[in-house]
Amino acid sequence: MTTPSRITIIAGNWKMHYGPRQASRFASEIVPELGLLVHQNPHILSILCPPAISLSAVCEVMDAHLFRGIELGAQNMYFEEKGAYTGEISPPMVRELCTTAILGHSERRTYFGETDEMVTQFPAQHVKKVVVAYEPIWAIGTGKAATAEGAGNVIHLIRQLYGEMYGSEAAAALRILYGGSVTPDNISEFVAHPDIDGALVGGASIKSDFVEIVRKTIEVMQQ
Ligand code: PGA
Repeated sequence: MTTPSRITIIAGNWKMHYGPRQASRFASEIVPELGLLVHQNPHILSILCPPAISLSAVCEVMDAHLFRGIELGAQNMYFEEKGAYTGEISPPMVRELCTTAILGHSERRTYFGETDEMVTQFPAQHVKKVVVAYEPIWAIGTGKAATAEGAGNVIHLIRQLYGEMYGSEAAAALRILYGGSVTPDNISEFVAHPDIDGALVGGASIKSDFVEIVRKTIEVMQQ
């Protein structure tokens, strides 16, 4: 069982799905139910990460429902504050609507050449705000998820390494999620594992399955 005082995070990475109109429709479908679920449980946080162009549309739907516990995230951002960087969005821009940004996703590295050097351009004081997602590349979008035990072992190791770099207090506070073919059928195993603090969900986050994933997570938290 997850420790009740720790926040479990279920984030949905919509990837390149849903422009503003479709995003608004889909958000209107899931936000009311999702909102009710997370509203009743202060230890879960659900983050929706639509494409950048659809952030405002989803934000409007969320504002209309005024639920605590659902936040917005960007799928990527560039580290400069502003300037001649065609096509990019900056941290201050993201901050206007979002609490979170995904950085260094393996698809950004594979298709857009992002490197560790680019991803780690943020000042060290922000390290406390980082949430790590462990996503084995072979599990992303393949329908072949890791086992909870396997993911838990790697996550345990990540926490240890993080502790060596930033101290044991920071390591204990660090949230580490599992990602890769998470579905309503396997989420319970992952969130029941004591080392796993939630999930980064891709394919299942653009369907009503996402609400089911959150519902099952809450069931595990209440056991
Ligand atoms: P998936 O994607 O759930 O479709 O495997 C996860 C991710 O890439 O974040």
